[in-house]
Amino acid sequence: MTLFTRRRLLKTAAVAGVGGVGLAAMARLGGWAAAAPEQVLLKTAKVQATFMDVGPTRDVLTYGEAGMPPVLRMKKGEPFAARLVNAIDDPTTIHWHGIRVPNKMDGVPFLVQPYVYTGDHFDYAFTPPDAGTFWYHPHCNTLEQMGHGLTGVIVVENPSDPKFDAEAVVNLRDWRLGDDAQFIQQFRPRDAAKTGTYGTVRTANWVDQPQFDAPSGGLVRLRVAITDVTRIYAFRVEGAEAAVIALDGNPVPHRFSPDALLLGPGQRMDLAIRMPDEEGAIVGLGDIRGTKPKTLATLRATGASLKRDLRDLAPLEANPVQEVDLASARHIALSLSATAENVPSDSICGTLGYSFWAINKVPWPGDTPDPTAPLAELKLGKSYVIDMENLTPQSHPMHLHGMSFKVLSSSTRQVQPVISDTYLIQPNEKVQLGFVADNPGDWLLHCHIIEHQKTGMTSYVRVV
Ligand code: C2O
Ligand code: CU
Repeated sequence: MTLFTRRRLLKTAAVAGVGGVGLAAMARLGGWAAAAPEQVLLKTAKVQATFMDVGPTRDVLTYGEAGMPPVLRMKKGEPFAARLVNAIDDPTTIHWHGIRVPNKMDGVPFLVQPYVYTGDHFDYAFTPPDAGTFWYHPHCNTLEQMGHGLTGVIVVENPSDPKFDAEAVVNLRDWRLGDDAQFIQQFRPRDAAKTGTYGTVRTANWVDQPQFDAPSGGLVRLRVAITDVTRIYAFRVEGAEAAVIALDGNPVPHRFSPDALLLGPGQRMDLAIRMPDEEGAIVGLGDIRGTKPKTLATLRATGASLKRDLRDLAPLEANPVQEVDLASARHIALSLSATAENVPSDSICGTLGYSFWAINKVPWPGDTPDPTAPLAELKLGKSYVIDMENLTPQSHPMHLHGMSFKVLSSSTRQVQPVISDTYLIQPNEKVQLGFVADNPGDWLLHCHIIEHQKTGMTSYVRVV
């Protein structure tokens, strides 16, 4: 596996023309206003990929020519542009999960943009305000498109980030394949009504247990994104000292060791790992949830020890997220429940044909707002607290588009006041999420277990 050293990253960014180098040069020439970033091409494609020994899997979807969708590199505060070209026989869009983009760039069909049909394209352009680890995926017929491969990781770099000796990016996801390595039915209704339908083959960066080389005694930044449609992970690092330094793109107030840290689909964690001193030593990132613990990826120590110390690592800079004003905040009650009705319902954006879940008792049949009204109308610039309550026996990674919230309190556990876009709410938990409605538009709020999202657990708020 390749090791992404800092030098190599810079080279990759320059070659890919992601923006930084060219822009700086243009700025020196006095052309800031005219400076446009070079457009990244994201072309959907149907490809073959090998996940099982028996042979290649057909009908895998990606952006690009082959292999995993590229890790996109952006820079905090610098313009980014991408052209989505749709070359598969299904309409699609791109959502930039966790990045606070203008509403028109959010990629939700019908709510904010039209479908991008086969042969058509759509130009996305925005300036990421926050540094951190994010990801991108379609927001259309999502169970099928994401399930078949369209999930990629985004790294938004910050020049003032502390210095690591190496960095690696891990895209975690499963595939639902049969014994012949071909896709089987993406979901089972009885599972969709519970925890969701799990994949049969587990991968990191589309392979089983990738290994990254990293300097002995060095500090590694491991960026991990759960892009699976269903699976919740419980992370643990074996063989080295490790600290969670960021969650869902934002620095954590207090670093902690990832001891069975639960994160759900859509969530990210940034780990700082201090490699062992002995050359050849192996560090493992594991998922210890459920009955079959799994090593997801490993790091191998190389060379003489750099003798670094985790405690020397400077803090990450906080992202410019407005502080919620609790004194003036209006509260929005939000209850997650199962729905009694269980009837196929039509939808134009890839319905699964069932309704199992509801937000405030309203099940949403697909990705279209019709006929559902916004959950709430928020005033631009005002503070809000979502009082979210989980009345179901399952956990739900609830994701808000367009704005980041602060986790204020939970009825069942001690929570850090982390800034995030996705909260994994446990059964019987009540949680308070505070935010400033500073981004105008219609913003989805949904469970990121895609079968839940697509069988009712979706709503949206309107900021005007
Ligand atoms: Cu990861 Cu509605 O998004
Ligand atoms: Cu859910």
